[in-house]
Amino acid sequence: MWGIFGGGNHNLGIDIGTSGIKIIELEHNSSGKPPRLINYVTVGFRENLPQKERERRITKNEVASLLKAALREGKIRTTNSSFSVPAFSSFISFVTMPRVDKENIKQSLLMEAQKFIPVSLEEVVLGWEVIDEPSEKEIANIRDQNKMKVLLLAVPKDIVARYREIAQMSGLKLKNLEVEAFPLLRSLATDIKKTSIILDIGSRVCNILVVSNGSLRGARNIGVGGDDLTEVLARSIDITYERADELKRNEGLLNKQVSELLTPVLGNIIEELKRVISVYKNKNPNKEIQEVILSGGTAGLKGITELFVNRLGIHTQVGDPWSKVEVDENIKNLLREKGVAFSISVGLALKKEETEI
Ligand SMILES: Nc1ncnc2c1ncn2[C@@H]1O[C@H](COP(=O)(O)OP(=O)(O)OP(=O)(O)O)[C@@H](O)[C@H]1O
Ligand SMILES: [Mg+2]
Repeated sequence: MWGIFGGGNHNLGIDIGTSGIKIIELEHNSSGKPPRLINYVTVGFRENLPQKERERRITKNEVASLLKAALREGKIRTTNSSFSVPAFSSFISFVTMPRVDKENIKQSLLMEAQKFIPVSLEEVVLGWEVIDEPSEKEIANIRDQNKMKVLLLAVPKDIVARYREIAQMSGLKLKNLEVEAFPLLRSLATDIKKTSIILDIGSRVCNILVVSNGSLRGARNIGVGGDDLTEVLARSIDITYERADELKRNEGLLNKQVSELLTPVLGNIIEELKRVISVYKNKNPNKEIQEVILSGGTAGLKGITELFVNRLGIHTQVGDPWSKVEVDENIKNLLREKGVAFSISVGLALKKEETEI
């Protein structure tokens, strides 16, 4: 962590994950130059809890008090902040509906939305974006040319309220609240000509996104993450969780025994990816997924890209969330190694404009 003091054009990106909080502070400038990294801070939840309580849900008071501690530690004075909503606390659907004028989208969408959202529309905040690129199959089918495709987004109102309260308790101004798919796209999908999969593997959850022409075309999440890898090691070798975590981070898949134990768990993620790829190909027969971009803490697992290349036959690389950010030379190396875990917070802080929540 390092820091200089913030001013009016500084933005905070705050990612509250299962394992902890990641904060990025960027300074935007009007000269057209890339925003500059001012500060980065992480705090873990588990290290701050007694052993026996490590599995329980963290309350909003605990989140706020850790967040305040992190802001203090980073000497962060900026209050403008954007928070992310985890994939598992939101719903993303891709709706094909009759083509209507812009002014009538909301009304038409409200009629369709309940089919796609498993909770009452009264309980959610809705958002949408017209994607409007009919798939090749739809273009071939003359009847579907009068349809439009809309990305529909829903976040439960109580989740929105939770983030509002956390921001308020921490003395922050909540400027944006974004479902984590969008900041991931902003920081990682930098080549808009490509069709890619972004795979964020956190501690508990995997977020799988399909991106084409710079916009989101598919989203799925599954409850498998890096902590499952640690648990398998701890159980199979009969070592403590802490020792297993160390083994995972130090050796990764380069160690034969570790690799044999972890490959089946990672295999579940790979099988899910294959399903997502097959659904996408089925709808877009002439399009290829050209690359897999890995993100989240587990992207740091040694040997993970090779495993994905072998099993999927698709070019796989660890994402670089810093490509749109100016970073001082002396911390570049450090961030190259650990920086991909900041993809969501970087993406949040990159958004300059404020949106209505
Ligand atoms: N070098 C590494 N090798 C392997 N695993 C790692 C490494 N560094 C971190 N991890 C793992 O990454 C996970 C944390 O990732 P991340 O910070 O993206 O999760 P999170 O955002 O808190 O969780 P989630 O997204 O599931 O809510 C942990 O399981 C951790 O053990
Ligand atoms: Mg995460």
